Amino acid sequence: MKNNPIGIFDSGIGGLTIVKEIIKALPFESIIYLGDTARVPYGPRSKEVIAKFAKELAQFLLKRDVKCLVVACNTISATSLEEIVKISPVPVIGVVEPTIEAAVKTIRGKKIGVIGTAGTINSGVYEDKIGKLNKSIKVSVGACPLFVPLAEEGLGNHKATKIIAEGYLRGLKKKKIDTLILGCTHYPVLAATIQQIMGKQVKLVDSAKPTAQKLKQLLTEKELVTENRSPEYRFFVTDAPEKVIEVAGRFFGKGLDGNLAKINLPTL
Ligand code: DGL
Repeated sequence: MKNNPIGIFDSGIGGLTIVKEIIKALPFESIIYLGDTARVPYGPRSKEVIAKFAKELAQFLLKRDVKCLVVACNTISATSLEEIVKISPVPVIGVVEPTIEAAVKTIRGKKIGVIGTAGTINSGVYEDKIGKLNKSIKVSVGACPLFVPLAEEGLGNHKATKIIAEGYLRGLKKKKIDTLILGCTHYPVLAATIQQIMGKQVKLVDSAKPTAQKLKQLLTEKELVTENRSPEYRFFVTDAPEKVIEVAGRFFGKGLDGNLAKINLPTL
């Protein structure tokens, strides 16, 4: 079990921002990644549809004997984590809780902002969980649906992105938040633009590092950390791989070394 791969999935390839940090934190672990590129984005979909799709992704990885599952997608973690936990015989972690814990630990004042897809924001999960950790923190949220295609198109620093971001972030700026959670796999790609608009005094917290650290802690507790083995990385998508190679590089920071293949899910 210890040397089995870690299973990581996302609605698309944005979850590679999280894989990148997991590789840094756990360099000997093998990874199987699945991105549902045929059906991305999940952000605008209903909770029922997201849960149905997400369970199919989890089943694919569970059949490949993964030792744990990482839900590397904010929208799935926010809406359907419980459903994945129910069907999984192995430990499951999502990105929402580790990100909240990191934000609450480092917060200087009492005002947190959260941005994410419509699915994530409408779930109310961030307000709910931050409230349970610390009642005195005020949480303001905002959906930024166009950030996903802008990040995928590599337009993070484009003037169109700045104009759109100014509109999305205006309300949060007025609230004088001191910490902003980037509650979406894609938003780290837009971090420089978001920081410029929000100002230096606002601390940005994304999901990648906190999730990788939480995974390391979980595997350590369960004595499932692999040591001194050369890892194997396999990447699967549900639509033609050549369509995502360039975009994947944007999130992963390097190429996927020819290890990218298309799979067929039963309902696709
Ligand atoms: N992976 C999604 C998230 O982190 C963004 C893309 C989508 O909408 O499916 O929320």
